[in-house]
Amino acid sequence: MWWLVKLSIVLQCVHSVRITNMRVPEVVQYGVKDSVTLDCEFEADNVTGLVVKWFYTDRLQLVYQWIPPHKPQALGILRNRVDLSHKVSDNPYTQHRAVHITSVVPELTGNYTCVVSTFMAEDEKTSPMTIFVTETKFDMIQDRLNDKFLNIICSVEGVYPKPELGILVGNRPQRAKSSIKVIDGRYTALTSTVVNIERLPPTVEILCEMMVPSANYYSKKREVFYRDPPATDIPSFEPVSPDSGHHITSTSALVIISIVISSLRLHAT
Ligand SMILES: *[C@@H]1O[C@H](CO)[C@@H](O)[C@H](O)[C@H]1NC(C)=O
Ligand SMILES: *[C@@H]1O[C@H](CO)[C@@H](O)[C@H](O)[C@H]1NC(C)=O
Repeated sequence: MWWLVKLSIVLQCVHSVRITNMRVPEVVQYGVKDSVTLDCEFEADNVTGLVVKWFYTDRLQLVYQWIPPHKPQALGILRNRVDLSHKVSDNPYTQHRAVHITSVVPELTGNYTCVVSTFMAEDEKTSPMTIFVTETKFDMIQDRLNDKFLNIICSVEGVYPKPELGILVGNRPQRAKSSIKVIDGRYTALTSTVVNIERLPPTVEILCEMMVPSANYYSKKREVFYRDPPATDIPSFEPVSPDSGHHITSTSALVIISIVISSLRLHAT
């Protein structure tokens, strides 16, 4: 038994493959570069049976394969997006190890795994790449609902990957409702919050923030809110807002519902 372990250790030392340097650009801004190269430098003591493979999304999809002395192949999402004649060296056992992508689109965002194997050994490494698209539109709307409440809405369009939105009022993050959808492969997101005007200082900074964490991208919109609108100190009559009517009806509806529920309970028992 022990000699077997020793033998396999010896074999591994003799026939080893080691990825020494993996180079994948972490973040690429869409439209800025015509091409990107994913490289995977390796050392192998014995190149018999050498195969270089690249996988997309955690070894699930084979996207590039090179078995020297054959020509490399691009498959799946990289089909027709790779320059297959690209060489990183003149060495017949390393020249096509890298993937030279000539169509850099956001859909290629993901984790890439390089697997180098020979008959006796194998090594692999994984790196993420994000191709991000900056927003086409970023807006903030301040909407005074009435004397007491201010609605703040932030919207962003055309971003990739998924953005995160936040609203800050006077440096304090607000609890906000968000919705997000995908239109033509880009994210459109909206977030909104309602703040109590009476609790705000006379002048306060309102900030809409957008982050795309995997792209280390941050963008913001800033506006100043003035609590007291000019000339509002007209006293006297208290208008009955149509809202209060709604409140009454919804309250009475609730009362009716609870009466119905309690009578149902009575019937049940
Ligand atoms: C490489 O490995 C193959 C198969 O294991 C073997 O036949 C060959 O002799 C080895 N070559 C060298 C240079 O070690
Ligand atoms: C890479 O994989 C990790 C872990 O599964 C994941 O959190 C990350 O978002 C992936 N990166 C990209 C760019 O998809």
